[in-house]
Amino acid sequence: MSRKFIVGGNWKCNPASMKEANTLLKEWKKSLPSVDKSKVDVVICPPALWMTTLSPAIEALGMQTCAQNVGKNDAGAFTGEWTAANLLDLNIKWTLIGHSERRTKYGETDADVAEKVAKCQEIGVNVILCIGETLEEREGGKTDEVNKRQLAAVIPKVKDWSKIVLAYEPVWAIGTGKVATPEQAEETQAAIRAYIKGAVSSDVADKLQIQYGGSVSPDNCAELITKPNIDGFLVGGASLKPTFMEIVSKVG
Ligand code: G3H
Repeated sequence: MSRKFIVGGNWKCNPASMKEANTLLKEWKKSLPSVDKSKVDVVICPPALWMTTLSPAIEALGMQTCAQNVGKNDAGAFTGEWTAANLLDLNIKWTLIGHSERRTKYGETDADVAEKVAKCQEIGVNVILCIGETLEEREGGKTDEVNKRQLAAVIPKVKDWSKIVLAYEPVWAIGTGKVATPEQAEETQAAIRAYIKGAVSSDVADKLQIQYGGSVSPDNCAELITKPNIDGFLVGGASLKPTFMEIVSKVG
């Protein structure tokens, strides 16, 4: 089964100013001819305050804008939140959910993640669902157990799998420079796909795009992408550089 590749650039709370963000987008434009858009989709996750301002420039590059987070609520008294409907209202069709920084720094539980996914399914927002284990969990042999637990919370909420992409991001590889080996990433992502096959269906498992995230760079992406269960990347630090486009073009 051939799946289209998808690369995400998660800027987190970066860069320091919108001027720098615009400069970066202008730099990327120079590399556009090297990208085969028939082979790779690209979604960019700027800080929320900048999403709508930057969206036209992102779309002009043939990329889509993606939120880094979304509320689990509808409109109401939820200070500091935004809704899935707010995103669609602004023509933002994608959001990350369950990034490990949301889980560990903001206390998001599996149940919170599941509610957010349910709301996006109801509204029709595409989700990149992030899962992954900590170093302690990997060293304790619990990698597959953790991924299954995080997925099991969400699976009952998903009615339309065409609006779900998974991002496997081992927490120990995020922002550390310690990328998972291609073999580690492939083994874990094959296990994730096998779990989806059993828990959902073969058809969904075959079609589901699974990104790898964690210290992906232009230097290590080419070997990772050769693995059959790696369908793209969710890139953090390296998506803040002009050379992010090298990752996109090596994938596509
Ligand atoms: O969402 C992206 C991940 O947190 C990976 O970040 O590429 O800086 O390790 P990183």
